[in-house]
Amino acid sequence: MHKQTIHDVELRGKRVLVRVDFNVPLDMEDNTISDDSRIRAVLPTLRYLIHAGSKVVVCSHLGRPKGKVVEELRLAPVAKRLSELLELPVTNTEDCIGPEVEQAISRLKEGDVLLLENLRFHPEEEQNDSGFARALSGLADVYVNDAFGAAHRAHASTVGVALYLPAVAGFLMEKEIDFLSKALTDPAPPFAAITGGAKVSDKLALLENILEKVDFLLIGGGMCCTFLKAQNHEVGQSKVEEDKLDFALDLTGKAAEVGVKLMLPGDVVVAESFASGVPFKIVSVSDIPESSYVMDIGPQTIESFSAELRKCKTVIWNGPMGVFEFAEFRRGTEAIARQLAELEATTILGGGSTAEAVGELGLADKMSHVSTGGGAALEFLEGKTLPGVAVLQDK
Ligand code: 3PG
Repeated sequence: MHKQTIHDVELRGKRVLVRVDFNVPLDMEDNTISDDSRIRAVLPTLRYLIHAGSKVVVCSHLGRPKGKVVEELRLAPVAKRLSELLELPVTNTEDCIGPEVEQAISRLKEGDVLLLENLRFHPEEEQNDSGFARALSGLADVYVNDAFGAAHRAHASTVGVALYLPAVAGFLMEKEIDFLSKALTDPAPPFAAITGGAKVSDKLALLENILEKVDFLLIGGGMCCTFLKAQNHEVGQSKVEEDKLDFALDLTGKAAEVGVKLMLPGDVVVAESFASGVPFKIVSVSDIPESSYVMDIGPQTIESFSAELRKCKTVIWNGPMGVFEFAEFRRGTEAIARQLAELEATTILGGGSTAEAVGELGLADKMSHVSTGGGAALEFLEGKTLPGVAVLQDK
């Protein structure tokens, strides 16, 4: 990575404002965190700062409170979890700026950790308001961005604040950028991309950006129906993005021109309604009944995709292969995850629902890298510059 990191700045005795992405899923019933991976992911940075003798001021958003205080979106449960994981007390303030926060920070000793309240309780955060950015920057001597998951947002805490303080990356940010950029610029060949998820429109820019970089492009998930339809297959009641049929055809043509093997499912699992607990069957893509929905990739497709994946040295994966939320339609996603777990290759998962699925399967630590960013990982793989990365100091 061409950006400075916490290795490049003086930290002892400094007040360090660390932007993290603690936008974690909450179980509202008992006010607990249902997946703490985003908290665990920044522990190396926080531990390094603690041991370096910084006064660590952590800040994050949680959910989308739209500029108002929403009690359910307070960061108290996150402070509790962070404290358990760090095995240290973590002070939690009731706001993220203001005199009370300033006093709490003035009481910090070297190695102490404080978590500011949800940044998005202030509308100025998302507006990237300069006054708010200045107020945040006034709390610290150094700014560290370890919130890869929010780096595609140009907000006061991800962009604005970097104008007023020495701004460097944390270890998570560095790791995310290193893995994702190596895949895009210097992947060990053969290189495969697997894309899935519901909609082609969500993946257009990604598909365009990676087409000429990969050797194999494997397309599953709901989005494959638009590709199948473009090739004149019946796809039953499955959602087809009519306005993306030309795109699907063009991409298939371009893949052939540049020698990329673009693979669609040869068989699929279909059901008569888009629901769990309904009868389902496996059919060839040439025999999809008019009345049915495509719910998952079929066993032959799992085998043909896996056969190509076994040849690969780099794989990126974004989007489940089927309707993962229904147990009987998660076989495709599970089989691909198990195949990736066995490969001697760099395997990178582009966050969001793919990360969730692999987490649920207990396979996350078998991948080389599971991104903590959903939208951010996607935008990075689309070739976009992330504003939260661009503002950090160059090496
Ligand atoms: C995420 O969960 O993808 C990030 O925390 C960004 O959240 P946002 O989409 O609400 O900006």
